Amino acid sequence: MNEERLPNHVGIILDGNGRWAKNHGLNRSLGHKKGAENLQKLVKHVFSLGIKYLSVYAFSTENFKRDVKEVNYLMDLFVKMFTEKKKIFVKNEIKVLFSGRRDNLREDVRNSLENLEEATSQFTEHVFNICLNYGGRCEIVDMTKKIIQKVENGEINVQDIDENLISHMMYQDLPDLDFVIRTSGEMRISNFMLWQSSYAEYYFPKVLFPDFNEEEFDKAIIEFQNRNRRFGG
Ligand code: IPE
Ligand code: IPE
Ligand code: MG
Repeated sequence: MNEERLPNHVGIILDGNGRWAKNHGLNRSLGHKKGAENLQKLVKHVFSLGIKYLSVYAFSTENFKRDVKEVNYLMDLFVKMFTEKKKIFVKNEIKVLFSGRRDNLREDVRNSLENLEEATSQFTEHVFNICLNYGGRCEIVDMTKKIIQKVENGEINVQDIDENLISHMMYQDLPDLDFVIRTSGEMRISNFMLWQSSYAEYYFPKVLFPDFNEEEFDKAIIEFQNRNRRFGG
């Protein structure tokens, strides 16, 4: 793999845990467990390649429509991961950020996430952005409210509003996405980082997320490196 043309910011829509479980004759929850284990390995790999920003879509605002048992299992899994893996994030100097609506999240989930954000806030080399209780449209609504509030407080003028300012006012101040991967063969973005992906390259491998290992990720990067990005020029 050519290490000179790596994407700066990669997004992964983690999809296919349920189908993976079904294919193995297991309960959907076990698919999520397997997906979480795979994610741990993948995060390490992505940063070891020299990629700086990684965003993952772990739970959408729409996912609350699922069966309450599945939602609860996922929330428990998040708390467990964020708590147990804190040491690993610190050891690998990975800054963890959280994008999503915080107010209607279960308190233990919010606390474990904020604790992880705090414990890793001093790092700058690798940034891992977790989209949880996240919706791209919801983020645009929340950004709009934030800007209006600042205008009302006299902190900014309406004339100051431009694309750059909007990017700074999203849940996290991150560079645009260069590459978005959605596993499981579904070819849609399901409300993932709409503003930040305006010029991203997309890749839709058929492999289900629990099987999307380091080797599959490297294949994705080679595909990215063969794309010709023009940005309208
Ligand atoms: C992705 O896997 C995980 C979440 C959305 C939380 P799914 O649960 O969507 O798996 P499929 O799409 O049913 O296979
Ligand atoms: C998108 O996957 C959300 C996450 C991966 C967190 P879904 O499985 O929820 O999306 P749809 O319902 O297939 O569009
Ligand atoms: Mg799905």
